[in-house]
Amino acid sequence: MTEEAPQTESTEQLARSQIESDGVSSLVVNDLTLEDLNDIEWSGGPLHPESVRKALERKNNGEVDYLTVRAPNGKPITIGGVDYKARKGTGTMWQLATMESLRGLGLGTKLIESLEQKIKGKGLKVATLSVEKDNPLARALYERLGYDIFDHDQESWEELDENGQPYTYVAEVDLMRKELL
Ligand SMILES: CC(C)(COP(=O)(O)OP(=O)(O)OC[C@H]1O[C@@H](n2cnc3c(N)ncnc32)[C@H](O)[C@@H]1OP(=O)(O)O)[C@@H](O)C(=O)NCCC(=O)NCCS
Repeated sequence: MTEEAPQTESTEQLARSQIESDGVSSLVVNDLTLEDLNDIEWSGGPLHPESVRKALERKNNGEVDYLTVRAPNGKPITIGGVDYKARKGTGTMWQLATMESLRGLGLGTKLIESLEQKIKGKGLKVATLSVEKDNPLARALYERLGYDIFDHDQESWEELDENGQPYTYVAEVDLMRKELL
C-alpha cells in the first residue's frame, strides 16, 4: 500500500487558524517585494500583478510605499500601497485587496493602519483614497476608519475582457480623506 503524501496546509488555512488562535495583530506586516509578485494573482485581474510591479519600482525613489500582511507561511494575504505623488501633501492609498476567502477578518483594517503610519512617518497629516461608487462594502470600511468623502472623480486602468482583449475600464469614484492625528 502506498502512503499518501502529507497535505500541506493552504495559505488561507494557516492564516485563518493563526487569526482564530492569536488574532490579526499577531500577523506580520512588512514591505511587499518583487519576489511576492507570483503570489498575488488573487488580488486582481491578469494585468494586476504587472501594475503592482510598476508600483514597486516607484518605491526606489521614495514615491511609494507598498505593504502586505503575511500568512504564517510568509505569503501575502492583504496588500496595498500608498502613493506620495498622487495628491500634493497627502498619502494616497490604492490597490487595497484581501484574499477573497479571508475578507471581513480585520486584515484590511490592519493594513490601512500600517499604511497610515507610513504616511505619518513622512510628516504628512492627511491620508486619501478613492472608492468606486458601486463598492459600498469597501466604503463602509473606510467610513468606519474615519474617512469622509470630499470629491468625486473618474479613474481608468487596463483590463482584459472575456476574450483576453485589453480594454480601458473607467470607474466613477468617490474620493475620501482622513486627518491623521
Ligand atoms: C475592501 C477590502 C480590501 C477590505 O479588506 P478586509 O480584509 O475585508 O477588511 P476588514 O476585515 O478589516 O474590514 C471588513 C470591512 O470591510 C468591508 N468589506 C468590504 N468588502 C468586504 C467583503 N467582501 N467581505 C467582508 N467585508 C468586506 C465591510 O464593510 C467590513 O466591515 P465590518 O468589519 O464592519 O464588517 C477587501 O474586502 C477586498 O479586497 N475587497 C475587494 C477589493 C476592493 O474592493 N478593494 C478596495 C478598492 S477601494
